[in-house]
Amino acid sequence: MSTSYDLIVIGAGPGGYVAAIRAAQLGMKVACVDENTALGGTCLRVGCIPSKALLESSERYYEARKGALSEHGISVGEVTLDLPALLARKDKVVSQLTSGVAFLFKKNGVTPHHGRGRLVGEGKVEVTSAEGSKEVLTAKHVLIATGSVPATIPGVVLDGDRIGTSTEALSFPQVPEHLVVIGAGYIGLEMGSVWARLGSKVTVLEYMSEFLPAIDTEIAKLAHRAFTKQGLQIQLGVRVTGARVEGDRVTVTYEEGGDQRPNLGPNQRTVEGDRVLVATGRRPNTEGLGASELGVKLDRRGFIEVDDHYRTAVPGVWAIGDVIPGPMLAHKAEEEGVAAVEHMAGLPGHVNYDAIPGIIYTHPEVAGVGKTEQQLRADGVPYKKGTFPFSANGRAKAMAETDGMVKILAHAETDRILGFHVIGPHASDLAAEGAVAVEFSASAEDLARSVHAHPTLSEVVKEAALAVGGRVIHM
Ligand code: NAI
Repeated sequence: MSTSYDLIVIGAGPGGYVAAIRAAQLGMKVACVDENTALGGTCLRVGCIPSKALLESSERYYEARKGALSEHGISVGEVTLDLPALLARKDKVVSQLTSGVAFLFKKNGVTPHHGRGRLVGEGKVEVTSAEGSKEVLTAKHVLIATGSVPATIPGVVLDGDRIGTSTEALSFPQVPEHLVVIGAGYIGLEMGSVWARLGSKVTVLEYMSEFLPAIDTEIAKLAHRAFTKQGLQIQLGVRVTGARVEGDRVTVTYEEGGDQRPNLGPNQRTVEGDRVLVATGRRPNTEGLGASELGVKLDRRGFIEVDDHYRTAVPGVWAIGDVIPGPMLAHKAEEEGVAAVEHMAGLPGHVNYDAIPGIIYTHPEVAGVGKTEQQLRADGVPYKKGTFPFSANGRAKAMAETDGMVKILAHAETDRILGFHVIGPHASDLAAEGAVAVEFSASAEDLARSVHAHPTLSEVVKEAALAVGGRVIHM
């Protein structure tokens, strides 16, 4: 196998593998180093993909069990859960997709090197295999795409069994009787939903006193109500301070007051469960990478500092994805990977950070792109708002999925769409229209006058755009 390349990508997650393929398309000789033989990174192996497989399966089980099909005139007998089969399906989806990346590498001429990559000099990457053998690869460019790892909190020690991260929560061997989730962010809400649907009692302990403060407040309120109705017991404004395992039980200690009164002290409470999911965020994965030793600068929180072309402080060393600042999202990493290698090739790569959709794949799904209403208010931007509920949409009625709405925020004078928010069925897919609208600087009028097929959920988008101008038709 060759050891000399134009580009070595460290990390085969969505950021790294997409960058490697794009670089190969641009004529570079590319290697991609990853310590896992299954390519695809956290997203494909233990993140986005397996969690979506479980969300899909658990939703079907939940619907069958709660009798949702009876509304359609369908009655089912006793509904039972075969958890090993459900988990095996998830594993199959993962292995199909990780082999898909291997196939794409082959097709595009990207050489995978299995082992742990470490920068040992400018343009030099040492790869240590699982067996301990070492080889040094050289290249003109090195792209760091090593992603992130779960961040823990003081007092809570992961034991890989009773107290785990999303990785363990993707494969619990039994449905927990009581799952205590620390953190009401993306992972906490998605994995909490999965196990609640499969029958667990789920308590979510969240430090912030506001639910999902980063998303549009109006949408967050609807989400809070929906998740609570589904049985997630969400406690806001509480700070978890410890977790103790005794046999198969875990006692979690927390203080009420959270971000309001962080030094509350003696007002400690406990909750006992049989499993704990720590979902308190992730941190950049730079340990043992040799980056800072080489002169790559890290910021205060450990993220790699890059310029707007994704160049680090060391010539020829670039970084993208979760290791650099910004939202830790697969699609953000992908776009950065493409832009970085295009810059390497002398092309004008670019990522529009105002048009990155964020999605929570719960039921209902929650999605948004652009500014939230509270951001516009805080920035003093004059805006108009249009909302439209799924309950007034024919397709949503036919699907019996009428909860939620689309909300569009447009500049009061120019009508330019500044924010696009959805809670409801297929919000994740509908958000694509919002992302395109924001990317193309569309006006609400542009969306309102675009033909949307009938009957589709996308008509809710059109109506919300019409609502910006005060002229909805179907309400
Ligand atoms: P997150 O940042 O979304 O949420 C973590 C939550 O934990 C925050 O709300 C925080 O206030 C809370 N927290 C922190 N310390 C706490 C304490 N001591 N007690 C109680 N609560 C505490 O992080 P999460 O959910 O772990 O996800 C990690 C990353 O993975 C995120 O950046 C997210 O972007 C990404 N992700 C994205 C998904 C998607 O796009 N659908 C799905 C899953 C993960």
